[in-house]
Amino acid sequence: MCESKKVGIIGLGKYIPERVLTNKELEKMVDTTDEWIFTRTGIKERRIARADEATSDMAAEAARAALKDAGLKAEDLDLIIVATITPDMFFPATACLVQQKIGARMVPAFDVSVACSGFIYGITIANQFIRSGAYKHALVIAAEKLSSITDWSDRATCVLFGDGAGAAVLGPVDQGGILSFHLGANGKAGDLIKLPAGGSRIPATKKSIEDRLHFIKMEGSELFKHAVKVMADAALEATKPLGLKAEDISLVIPHQANIRILNAVAKRMGLTPDKIYLNIEKYGNMSAASSAVALVEAVQEGRIKKGDKILLDAFGGGLTWGAIVIEW
Ligand code: UT7
Repeated sequence: MCESKKVGIIGLGKYIPERVLTNKELEKMVDTTDEWIFTRTGIKERRIARADEATSDMAAEAARAALKDAGLKAEDLDLIIVATITPDMFFPATACLVQQKIGARMVPAFDVSVACSGFIYGITIANQFIRSGAYKHALVIAAEKLSSITDWSDRATCVLFGDGAGAAVLGPVDQGGILSFHLGANGKAGDLIKLPAGGSRIPATKKSIEDRLHFIKMEGSELFKHAVKVMADAALEATKPLGLKAEDISLVIPHQANIRILNAVAKRMGLTPDKIYLNIEKYGNMSAASSAVALVEAVQEGRIKKGDKILLDAFGGGLTWGAIVIEW
């Protein structure tokens, strides 16, 4: 049991696959250009996991790095949450696979399936357990092997996605920590991005494979409009209860879907673009892992200092969205 009422991120880690897939290489795979991809999305390259590397492998690597950063051992964990839409398999949950890989105790372990908002949902869930006093240390990992559900013949989607993992250890802190959160979902817009087959609605058949229904389908421009509004609204909902204005936020760590979306969100929030952390150029969109890896790198690069108030902000398939204010 833990009596602390303040919960913060006490360790961070990431895992990025070695293989780089550049826009120039994609030019040889589909009818696209480096210029189109970069100007429309801000992406130059993305990482692709090895064939023998599954989501739980990347998640475990990120988890080990986060535990090391926190100065904790796997046995110290009381809860493991993995945010992913590319689990190793439907079940067991990827979190259970990670528990075994890192040598954690038989603590609760489960996955959260809310696409790109998963890291923020995961942190919010872990925050409740620690704040209530039920648990002391929680591991939240966002890991995706999007390359395994990407249609490499569809230029409208295959240029966007990449693989990777980021992890955070949460625990009691004396100062700052998670100050507020806002989560939401709109199932009415769920058709804008989805993986149609492989579930109970359309189980795998020869036809579902021929129809390429086991890959991400997306209505990009419609999703774009939702994304801008939803991310800006979520930011407002998370900052309003704290009486914070845009200028009180030192850095926004957003889901990295498209640089144009992020510039539009910055404008709506009344922020200059330099207040929005970006790494989309080198990784593309890694779904839940995007905001996790962005947070890890922002800290590693010294962009976040003690006492800073930062905002994590994401939206994704579902549609889902979430924003969190953290005092570092
Ligand atoms: O993580 C959350 C989920 N994903 C997102 O949030 C994605 C949100 N949407 C987007 O980022 C953008 O909508 C895209 C980057 C996906 C597309 O950019 P856009 O400016 O909305 O382009 P568009 O879909 O309106 O397509 C414009 C043109 C079309 O050609 P026509 O009809 O004007 O002749 C497309 O066929 O660009 C064409 N196009 C491409 N051309 C070259 C689409 N993909 C490509 C491509 N290379 N890869």
